[in-house]
Amino acid sequence: MHKVILDTDPGVDDAMAIAYALAHPDIELLALTTVFGNINIDYATRNAQYILETLGAQSVAVAKGAAVPGVQSPLPHADFVHGADGLGNVYPGSQPGSAATQTAPLTATARHASLEPLDAADFIIAAARAEPQQITLVAVGPLTNIAEALRREPELPSLVAGLVIMGGTVSEPGNVSPVAEANFLNDPHAADALFAADWPATVVGLDVTHRIMLGDSHLKSLQDHARNTGDLIWSSSRFYVDFYTRSGAAKEASEQGAEPQCAMHDAAAVAYVVMPDAFTVASGAARVIPDGLAVGQLALDRKGYAYSLPHWQNRPATHVCMSVDAERVRQDFLSIIIDHHIR
Ligand code: RIB
Ligand code: CA
Repeated sequence: MHKVILDTDPGVDDAMAIAYALAHPDIELLALTTVFGNINIDYATRNAQYILETLGAQSVAVAKGAAVPGVQSPLPHADFVHGADGLGNVYPGSQPGSAATQTAPLTATARHASLEPLDAADFIIAAARAEPQQITLVAVGPLTNIAEALRREPELPSLVAGLVIMGGTVSEPGNVSPVAEANFLNDPHAADALFAADWPATVVGLDVTHRIMLGDSHLKSLQDHARNTGDLIWSSSRFYVDFYTRSGAAKEASEQGAEPQCAMHDAAAVAYVVMPDAFTVASGAARVIPDGLAVGQLALDRKGYAYSLPHWQNRPATHVCMSVDAERVRQDFLSIIIDHHIR
């Protein structure tokens, strides 16, 4: 059984990852810790609680995290990908013109059960101290919370079972710039700080998540066979699939006649927890470029040369996924949700 804390900026593909983790018989989802990214922190937090309630998992803890990155100025939220509400504009009352999109962001407590009293970083530290080497942190948003937890508790890497990160890209083009992926670009300093620490850390980046596409036929099978869970995934993915098909990673496939589709992204990080052998990795010192033209780029030392530059010395190896058995991951995602969803 893998005990998981999912750090998330829900987010349409985050919702898919939450559904997969909740349904998976080999995962005990302990908590969601929320972070800015796809949407502002208030919407991310209320979306996290709404997703859990809709999926029948109200007992899963939610701890609210960072509203902005640790160093750089905040970037605009990806509402053109995830909708103005962060959930494909299906959050109750968020349809264009409805009150929810015209008032100030609803705080999570305004609509849902109370949040954990600890913030995301302290919640992660307390959980890791309470169950040493038992909990896997799965980070599928900007890494601000994880970096803050590491700053507050430098022993955190030795207190967790592992750290799995959806983010970055090595050979695959970026999705926010030619070299940068969204989660790393949203807080490059946090990502770079994490890779200086000696975790068991694995990066599940665009090199593999752009290989695992979900077509409307796959998503429709969830709506047809996974009740509330499938309904939420199908309805919240309409806006997201349209973006991917018109201008994202599915544009070329669409122009060649493929069905509308989207990238799985976050659920692939959950898949790595339960089936790491579906992936191959490259390992070496990892840096994330903090500013300039290549800001947010993941730079990986794949050869282990004895570089003289200090930027590359005395850094532990980070594992970065470079290939994946996409069909195996996709089928596990679909079958687990269809066979084991709560409601
Ligand atoms: O680049 C994809 C990542 O950025 C995913 O985690 C998506 O939810 C966004 O946060
Ligand atoms: Ca995300």
